[in-house]
Amino acid sequence: MLLENKVAIITGAGRGIGKSIALKLASEGCAIAFTDVALTDEVEKTRQEVETLGVVCKAYVSNAADFEQAHQVVEQVIKDFGHLDILVNNAGITRDTLLLRMTEQQWDDVIAVNLKSVFNFIHAVTPIFMRQHAGSIISMSSIVGLQGNAGQSNYAASKAGIIALTKSAAKELGARGIRVNAIAPGFIVSDMTNQIPEDIRNEYMKQIPLRRGGTTEEVANVALFLASDLASYVSGQVIQVDGALA
Ligand code: NAI
Repeated sequence: MLLENKVAIITGAGRGIGKSIALKLASEGCAIAFTDVALTDEVEKTRQEVETLGVVCKAYVSNAADFEQAHQVVEQVIKDFGHLDILVNNAGITRDTLLLRMTEQQWDDVIAVNLKSVFNFIHAVTPIFMRQHAGSIISMSSIVGLQGNAGQSNYAASKAGIIALTKSAAKELGARGIRVNAIAPGFIVSDMTNQIPEDIRNEYMKQIPLRRGGTTEEVANVALFLASDLASYVSGQVIQVDGALA
């Protein structure tokens, strides 16, 4: 058990990559607190699946883009679980369109949910992690944040921002025993990528050297590594999980 007696908070884990990370960390003994925008049947199903693995799992309604809500939910998790060891910033959205057609709202929404949320949660957990002189922070970037992508300038900017934030936080917080890393997935099969028209998806597949989309579990495996002591000397890094696409 790599994460026995540990507690993780994962944002936006009702489905997709976040859900797989919750299941993966739980399978190594980690208690799970996760957030999503609403307590839907899907969210409750995720909570039950995680609990089936023999750990405590609680779901919280919280908009990751909201500074106050992020702080409130972290405070509540400390009340409910007693301590906190791992933060996974996973919540993310897309509002894809070409730059000239992009509305201010589309820009602001993506920056708020994808990038500001990471600041919100790092800000909320840092005093806790500093006191215990330990903690692992993992944020979900994207290869689009490394390369850019036509039609995703808002999303790409948010994901590039996460990389800069990760590297800066790793430098600031390293002396306090806190590790900060990012994961940059490529094309992962999930509800988010299922929105992409099938012909465009098929084109992507041809460009991926491993010739397939990744699974959410393949991203979760890397999150487990970064969350655990296996990565005790790994900080300030961006690990690509992309089948050699980028
Ligand atoms: P998804 O759309 O399946 O799941 C995202 C989850 O975040 C949903 O449960 C959603 O309700 C929740 N969420 C959205 N806004 C929120 C908010 N304001 N506060 C709290 N929760 C919120 O997406 P997927 O594919 O699982 O992506 C997870 C993360 O991985 C995202 O940050 C995404 O940008 C990133 N990513 C995904 C890739 C892919 O190919 N699927 C590739 C690269 C990065």
